[in-house]
Amino acid sequence: MPTDMSIDSDAHDLSCDEPNEAAKASDSGGPASESALKHHKGETQAEMTERLQRTGFSTQSVHAGEKRQKAEGSISAPIFTASTFTFDSTDSLMRFVDGKEDRDEYGRYGTPNERTCEAKLAALEGAEEAIIYSSGMAAIVGLLMSRLSAGDEIVFFDQCYHRSREFCAKHLSRFGVVTRQVPTGDFDAMEAAINANTKMLVSESPTNPHLTAVDLEKFVALGKSCEVETLIDATLATPFNLRPIDYGVDFVLHSATKYLGGHNDLLAGVICGRSEALEPVRSLRGILGSVNSAHNMYLLERGLKTFELRMQRHNENGQRIAEFLDRHPRVERVYYPGLVSHPTHEIAASQMTGFGGLITFLVKDADWKATSRIVDAAKIPRIAPSLGGVESLIEQPLVMSYYHCTPQERASFGIYDNMIRMSCGIENADDLIADLEQALDAS
Ligand SMILES: Cc1ncc(COP(=O)(O)O)c(C=O)c1O
Repeated sequence: MPTDMSIDSDAHDLSCDEPNEAAKASDSGGPASESALKHHKGETQAEMTERLQRTGFSTQSVHAGEKRQKAEGSISAPIFTASTFTFDSTDSLMRFVDGKEDRDEYGRYGTPNERTCEAKLAALEGAEEAIIYSSGMAAIVGLLMSRLSAGDEIVFFDQCYHRSREFCAKHLSRFGVVTRQVPTGDFDAMEAAINANTKMLVSESPTNPHLTAVDLEKFVALGKSCEVETLIDATLATPFNLRPIDYGVDFVLHSATKYLGGHNDLLAGVICGRSEALEPVRSLRGILGSVNSAHNMYLLERGLKTFELRMQRHNENGQRIAEFLDRHPRVERVYYPGLVSHPTHEIAASQMTGFGGLITFLVKDADWKATSRIVDAAKIPRIAPSLGGVESLIEQPLVMSYYHCTPQERASFGIYDNMIRMSCGIENADDLIADLEQALDAS
């Protein structure tokens, strides 16, 4: 066994390559950063990231944003619970503050577990960057607060998550920002509402709970022609079914609580976009402090590993159950973008690769009580708010989210007494259909 490894070229190749590369990086005064380290057959972290950009969706959701070699050789992500991160010298701190070292400093500005999720989500969305928040609402608030000032205006399509509407109407207004609502999909009304103070056009696609698909080509064209930024909340679509950035949308938002996390066990939100536009957004997040615990991020990262598989099943279940409901004599109307009967089916079909697991439907000749009996009779879906998890959920919007609204308000939001919203999980479609059938027949 030779003691001098330099005389054994095989041993030299095996044992000395990585430390030498790392040493060279530190010796030259540059950062001994991850990207300078050779990881696998000479591939750097940066090269690995670039290679992954050319791989399929699921390969990216499993591997993007991860270090090839993690602490202690662990294949799963170590959970870094630290609220603060140490520097081994003033020199090292100065390299960091001078922007020469990419690492973490203090939990409110970001953590290793958040960064991994951010890199994964940016890759899946085809975005330069992603910023994670403690919830979808925190993401909306964080984005709008950082991009808007007193006197600015936004125009948004009126079908949307009711808390987003509430934040704009009740709270942004207190800071002097004017919000104008126009009917969903009415681009003439949107254009007419734009003026010199307008800074952003906002929409969901598909919308919650009416599943209306918004024509992203028109949306982006209007924003560009008026020099106004565009924001799409694509929570219901997910990057598996829709990639708004490919259409030129400036900011894409998701409640990661839904399909991205996918297991009804975490709250998180994300904003994706160009790095330059996101710089002030990230900076405000560091002040607002709407960040996540490491454990939460571990759950999100773990959920993302099976994202494509789950979405395939959500899409399949959504389509089959929507078609079943559409044929059922007790159902008056089904809102599902994968049905040709949906008014925006053509738009959805042209820009989405699947239509997700959320279905809204109206029960024929039923008042709110008769409708609630169907909800109560369903045995597999559980009565709960939210959507996008592996467990199916069912709810009556009248009783769940809109209970405290007046009938006039509900009518203006398109919420009816006989409306049911179901989030199809990943159970077997045959079981869900049989269960809905008995619920519709029994009540
Ligand atoms: C379309 C949409 N956007 C945003 C949100 C808010 O997300 P979160 O509950 O994670 O704050 C929701 C929540 O249901 C939603 O449905």
